[in-house]
Amino acid sequence: MVAKIIDGKELSKKILEDVKKKIQQNNQKPGLAIVLVGNNPASEIYVGLKEKKSKELGINCERYDLDELISEEELLNRVDELNQKKDIHGIVVQLPLPQHINDELVVNSVLPHKDVDGFTPVNQGNLVNDNNMLVPATARACIELIKSTGTEIKGKNAVIIGRSKIVGKPVFLLLLQENATATICHSKTKNIAKHTKNADILIAACGVPKLVKKDMVKEGAIVIDVGINRTDEGIVGDVDYENVKEVAGHITPVPGGVGPMTIALLLDNILQAMELHK
Ligand code: GUN
Repeated sequence: MVAKIIDGKELSKKILEDVKKKIQQNNQKPGLAIVLVGNNPASEIYVGLKEKKSKELGINCERYDLDELISEEELLNRVDELNQKKDIHGIVVQLPLPQHINDELVVNSVLPHKDVDGFTPVNQGNLVNDNNMLVPATARACIELIKSTGTEIKGKNAVIIGRSKIVGKPVFLLLLQENATATICHSKTKNIAKHTKNADILIAACGVPKLVKKDMVKEGAIVIDVGINRTDEGIVGDVDYENVKEVAGHITPVPGGVGPMTIALLLDNILQAMELHK
């Protein structure tokens, strides 16, 4: 079997068009603030993409590039100012933050209804309670990519590699909501392959280049690769794409899979945040 490629770029265009239409129908422009601390090269690329796309859609995007050495207190003050700005509906604090700053403290200081990343305890708690408010965009992206294959998630064995707050945990909860039998594997899991070989849906979100090999994948599985790893051979995912595509039924490429969908759904989250302001 040679896997069908799930084209995240193409799929994201439809979502972006929908978001654009909804913005045009609104009488108020959505406002997004993106806070970038320091000069992490990967973060600069992601923030640049978010800024560019949001402007294309008619979102008022304010970018705050702050010094690497900013104090935690000063950063908390800056977030608080954005919390109070009426024309800002969504706030993204790009992670990671420099070592001297407690990122949890900063992320948790964003008002829940402006937390378009869905990282605050209120939004995470709502997700646990099946009362979704603002859901992390990467996790939403995984679900939309799976659904785009036309496969029913209900009753499927879904295995996630990675237990991060950004992807692993929220996508686990979304898969449960879709009635999958969901399992999380992580760095301390014994014999990951034993689990992944049983997966109808496999989500790799662990940040280890090409961790998922062909012999770990069930024939015909849907494989979603969240990894973006910079290596000597360029950017590669968490899946050994060239070999795994010989056994998978569907697979996302890197780049062009989860990445563009994440940005599109982040921008969709801003519309949802705007609704919460009403
Ligand atoms: N760093 C890596 N992914 C993300 C994300 O989705 N949101 C934010 N704020 N930072 C990130």
